[in-house]
Amino acid sequence: MKRIFLIGYMGSGKTSMGKLLAEKLGFTFVDMDAHIEAKYHKTVSQIFAEMGQEQFREIERECLHEVAEFEKSVISTGGGAPCYFNNMEYMNAHGLTIYLNLTIDQLTERLLKSRPGKRPLIDALKGKGLREFIEKAMEVRAPFYAKAQMQLSGDDEEIISSLDKLVASV
Ligand code: S3P
Repeated sequence: MKRIFLIGYMGSGKTSMGKLLAEKLGFTFVDMDAHIEAKYHKTVSQIFAEMGQEQFREIERECLHEVAEFEKSVISTGGGAPCYFNNMEYMNAHGLTIYLNLTIDQLTERLLKSRPGKRPLIDALKGKGLREFIEKAMEVRAPFYAKAQMQLSGDDEEIISSLDKLVASV
């Protein structure tokens, strides 16, 4: 196994679980949003504000193709990445895809606690209707996420134990 892509909605724990998994495997952790920000010298929020979401999705695809060349890496992808172009098929062809499948309640609770300024789609709500927003987005996104080769769900402890099983099997 050359690389693992972690996919899932914003707040599903791709970054924290990705770092942990990379450490357990002795792989490099790669955060796609951070890769985008370093390449364009702008934050994701700035890219959304200055160039619009459509342009962000083009940039995201281009950066996905770059990070999908990295060997021995665990790649945490942006929550929308699997849902545009043929990105999901691309990831499935380039590594193991793992979907962190959290419930709407879990996602809402975690995103309510998260720092504002980092996630333009959610910041735009200005604190209103987060649960409904996530629910609607998940209806659209779930079929894309469902194409992942593996799905993990539960609380942090359960997900970590599933990751341990995965590490033991490789
Ligand atoms: C997005 C998720 C974000 C980031 C951008 C758009 C989305 O990444 O790529 O704000 O459309 O779900 P995280 O899932 O890492 O927050």
